[in-house]
Amino acid sequence: MSTTVIRGARLYGDGDPVDVLVADGIIAEIGHLAVPGDAEVIDAGGQVLLPGFVDLHTHLREPGREDAETVETGSAAAALGGYTAVFAMANTDPVADNALVVEHVWRRGREIGLVDVHPVGAVTVGLRGERLAEMGTMAKSVAGVRIFSDDGHCVADPLVMRRALEYSTALGTVIAQHAEEPRLTAGAQAHEGERASRLGYAGWPASAEESIVARDCVLARHAGARLHVCHVSTTGTVDVLSWAKGLGIDVSAEVTPHHLLLTDERLETYDPVNKVNPPLRSEPDVDRLRQALADGVLDCVATDHAPHAAQDKDCEWQAARPGMLGLQTALSIVVETMVRTGLLDWRGVARVMSERPAEIAGLPDQGRPLAVGEPANVVLVDPDAEWTVRGAELASIAANTPYEGMRLPAVVSATLLRGRITSREGKIV
Ligand code: DOR
Repeated sequence: MSTTVIRGARLYGDGDPVDVLVADGIIAEIGHLAVPGDAEVIDAGGQVLLPGFVDLHTHLREPGREDAETVETGSAAAALGGYTAVFAMANTDPVADNALVVEHVWRRGREIGLVDVHPVGAVTVGLRGERLAEMGTMAKSVAGVRIFSDDGHCVADPLVMRRALEYSTALGTVIAQHAEEPRLTAGAQAHEGERASRLGYAGWPASAEESIVARDCVLARHAGARLHVCHVSTTGTVDVLSWAKGLGIDVSAEVTPHHLLLTDERLETYDPVNKVNPPLRSEPDVDRLRQALADGVLDCVATDHAPHAAQDKDCEWQAARPGMLGLQTALSIVVETMVRTGLLDWRGVARVMSERPAEIAGLPDQGRPLAVGEPANVVLVDPDAEWTVRGAELASIAANTPYEGMRLPAVVSATLLRGRITSREGKIV
């Protein structure tokens, strides 16, 4: 097994630079070290070392839409973005509602070896919200499914959701809900408000999200279940989560980078690259989401990386698919919205992008402290560098980034998965 020395890194951005010796996949020594002759050296020059990022919400599109993304290209995007584990959502074609599909995705992830790919299993057969999928078979398969979600669709029927939470409790897994009451969003195209009305978009009300989150917190409480809320987008959802957490309900929640940065002002462009579900919200919502992430009501950042083929985005707004790329830009958006604003320090970034998501998913070897004896799943970040986003240069097959041409702070210098360098200086290794 290879030996690597990361020379002169600041752990969590704190204190003086130290050397980190990585051998046999673990952090073997930390201090001022003599470099072994056969070691590969990464000169960190005072850059920030963090535990590798964990994304609870990625769409890899395989099987079925390999014209937008594959496990291979998505894994590359993840490694370049500083991720060492990603959870691949179940809304593929065929749907990941059985052991065969989740095992395929898991196996592809292992073969490619750039990031740990954990398939999410569907809650219901075909994501239709009617009949529970074979959750137990998926949990016990080699893929070891830990999170179930119909993401892209809400498990809207309260009886189906109740049963799913009960089964999930028995299996020791988590249900991740895409909170959207479909009766309130029929035909919806954009955040309901003055701007959508003026521009002629049908409105997607905040209550569609908030009512499902409130309902599911109550259902989870009675089932003794673990609930995770996907892509929180409104002030009201933060209020509901505060209430539920105050009662001791076992609920966690994620926010996406795009909901931390962008607002419905983007509707003025009519450019479908800005179409996403849930939609981009108002400025007060964005402010509240940032605050809630800083104070822990929102647990973590998840990308909702949603690649779409050009023909599904380069069309009129109504026909376009919702979603945007996220894996390679997430860190920079978090630095822009949370670090530069003073809301989080680098320890906070480690918490929301690595430690909390690993805890929520129950991954024993991710989100671990930067300490001797721990698995060497780490990311080295240059906090002072800047870069300009170009969709065509990202590793994904699709190029639907809403940050095209933007100059963003912070660059991933290197990512190590179990001690192996997976990306370095913007290149896959
Ligand atoms: O914008 C979105 N895109 N939201 C979702 O919930 C699903 C995702 C997708 O699969 O494209």
